Amino acid sequence: MVESVYTTDLKSVGVSHVGSSPTSRTSLMKSKNIFLENVLSLEECQSIEIKFFDVIKNGWKGYKDDYRTNSISLYDPYIALGIDQNSIIAKIDQRVKEYYKDNIVYSHSFLRMYKNNSQLALHTDRKGLDVTLSVNIGGLESWPICISNVYTESDIDTYSSKKQNDELTFKNDHSVFLTPRGCGVACYGNNFPHWRDIFECRDDEYVLQIFYHWRIIS
Ligand SMILES: [Fe+2]
Repeated sequence: MVESVYTTDLKSVGVSHVGSSPTSRTSLMKSKNIFLENVLSLEECQSIEIKFFDVIKNGWKGYKDDYRTNSISLYDPYIALGIDQNSIIAKIDQRVKEYYKDNIVYSHSFLRMYKNNSQLALHTDRKGLDVTLSVNIGGLESWPICISNVYTESDIDTYSSKKQNDELTFKNDHSVFLTPRGCGVACYGNNFPHWRDIFECRDDEYVLQIFYHWRIIS
């Protein structure tokens, strides 16, 4: 099983690094990105994917927003799709806590399907979504996630001035991860801005991701 913890020493299984040394970050908090192989089995991924497409076939349109164009989402997909999540979440929780320790508590999950011309603009996750694990459930595996190595305590979203002022700084020093189906990347999403560039694919292609979120407790 391949697992790669990326902090300051740039060990790189499934990881590439862009820009200057992470020592440029403005806080002692390390980015601590973790690549986790086989978070979900292919059967578990397939089960979610089939049920999700069944829901779409039945006319469900999903939630859309301008921030993440050409995508639709589903809150707490296991509950929404009628899949028992207890054992799956316990397994994932245990693996993530090996790295982030016990001062995090699992919150919820979120599914999003990205289509042609989707883009995930540079952003931080909101407070309370302190650690996020992004897992590829199905579709293409060639759309990388980029995670800045530059720490921030600001909320970064499409409209924030902080984003407009500092986007180049965040993008200048970042790590890039590809996640094959069932694999995922965890990061401190509230403190390290992350993004995906424009996704180009055929109209019948897509990327299906589930984000699992934890909050830090003191
Ligand atoms: Fe995010």
